[in-house]
Amino acid sequence: MATERTLSIIKPDATRRNLTGKINAKFEDAGLRIIAQKRIQLTKAQAGEFYAVHKERPFYDELCEFMASAPVVVQVLEGENAIAKNREVMGATNPADAAPGTIRAEFAESVGENSVHGSDAPDTAAEEIAFYFSGLELVG
Ligand code: CDP
Ligand code: MG
Repeated sequence: MATERTLSIIKPDATRRNLTGKINAKFEDAGLRIIAQKRIQLTKAQAGEFYAVHKERPFYDELCEFMASAPVVVQVLEGENAIAKNREVMGATNPADAAPGTIRAEFAESVGENSVHGSDAPDTAAEEIAFYFSGLELVG
């Protein structure tokens, strides 16, 4: 196992319900360190660029609208095996399938409004971190 960094987003459904602290506690309790964090408001175009990989999917337009509907908290999480560990802490995409105790099991409202985003592999983690953060903002 190696120390990794992954990109996390606390999505609009969660910022709206004031869940940033509760979600951050889940990351920290799992040994993930929040090494960078900021609250921003995405435009629909920026959300579309971030989720470009899903451009052809039927939920793309709704997803972009949702991501631009309220502020999000973008974060870099660091730790041993951070990419897979974060996916574990998040739970399955559809909260109906998410394991008990995971963020999505506890907080997600639906498969679309599911409280958090997490990178899925080392190459996408690096790209997604660079999308939101400059090297100067990553102090470790
Ligand atoms: O976020 P995750 O990597 O678990 O799932 P994804 O398959 O990469 O999908 C990205 C996001 O699109 C999800 O987190 C949902 O917000 C949304 N989505 C949706 O609205 N409806 C689906 N059937 C699948 C995903
Ligand atoms: Mg994904």
